[in-house]
Amino acid sequence: MTFTTIHPGYALLLLSTLLWQCQGSPDTASTMETTPAPSFSSKPYGKTTDGKEVDIYTLKNAKGMELQVITYGGIITSWTAPDQDGNYGNVVLGYDKLEQYEASNPYFGALIGRYGNRIAKGQFELDGTTWQLETNDGPNHLHGGTRGFDKVVWSAEAKTGEQAVELVLRYTSPDGEGGYPGTLNTEVVYSLNNEDELVVTYSATTDKKTVVNLTQHSYFNLSGDFTRNVQDHLLEIAADAYLPVDETLIPVGQLASVEGTPFDFRSAKPIGQDLEVEDEQLARGKGYDHCWALNNPGTYRKAAAVAHPGSGRLLEIFTDEPGIQFYGGNFLDGTLPMPGGGTYAHRTGFCLETQHYPDSPNQPAFPSVVLEPGQTYRSKTSFKFSTKTNSL
Ligand code: GLA
Repeated sequence: MTFTTIHPGYALLLLSTLLWQCQGSPDTASTMETTPAPSFSSKPYGKTTDGKEVDIYTLKNAKGMELQVITYGGIITSWTAPDQDGNYGNVVLGYDKLEQYEASNPYFGALIGRYGNRIAKGQFELDGTTWQLETNDGPNHLHGGTRGFDKVVWSAEAKTGEQAVELVLRYTSPDGEGGYPGTLNTEVVYSLNNEDELVVTYSATTDKKTVVNLTQHSYFNLSGDFTRNVQDHLLEIAADAYLPVDETLIPVGQLASVEGTPFDFRSAKPIGQDLEVEDEQLARGKGYDHCWALNNPGTYRKAAAVAHPGSGRLLEIFTDEPGIQFYGGNFLDGTLPMPGGGTYAHRTGFCLETQHYPDSPNQPAFPSVVLEPGQTYRSKTSFKFSTKTNSL
């Protein structure tokens, strides 16, 4: 043991500081108790029908927001957010069993790839070669096909820091999987910070020229009460234009101004406000199921905000993607089971899926989704919760 000479005055100061700390000041004690660090835990969740082990991770930030993610599909199974009185409630639709996610999931909470949204007739051409994907949505390809990234088991690694806790998910999609060219090495990071914000970053590399468009497909209901629909939620989308679609929900090509249409969400309005308006586009989507062309492309900016007046919960979405698909839960039809009993009724959740435009591989005027060997696909979206007692 070694001793260092300490000046007597300094020793006295040290001693009194120590004594003061032992007695504790009420302030210090309470501060120490109320600032827990972000944390995570994990446990087995089940086994897929083909025998793969699936884990569930719980990420918790210092304020108490909790996110649960399973390694099957990178699915967010629950996500708590505080209301205006500080009460935490789950705000995303999900199931409570792996079998249910495997049997019939309308993409609740899932990571979507390799291509989020539709590709007309499941076909596209790259350098003169035509690639035929599965057609799993009428004549079209949707969300990577019947075994997309929402149905594979991802490897997971969790980490904590002072400001955030993160889960890194990785999946290598073999060359030809789902009909797509190239081995795609994919990484998605869910980072939950102490600002009640989940930052999702996507990256991917390929060994052959291919197309990529990854997204997150959580269904939100900010009331936290899934027996209510989302028509009273106030929605704002930062887009002057949207993409009109044909009967099979493939964009017709040109952008259309939202001005004077039910698609105008430039100022917040209730989701349900214009749903009954006679409009060919609304009818084609059976409600809202369209991609908006976000303003200020090429920048990371606020894309949308949703507020629920009853609870005061506010969700803001930021992204560097050119588009956002707003889907109003039109296909929920009272047949899918809700945890704790009952079923999910029509429009009990909404999705805001940040992405490149649907059918981009076939529409040269749209921002490109082509990824070449040597390049890295990168995309970033964040979901930030807070409360607001007045309207948006
Ligand atoms: C996407 C599509 C919708 C629907 C849902 C899942 O958002 O755009 O048409 O397929 O996924 O039901």
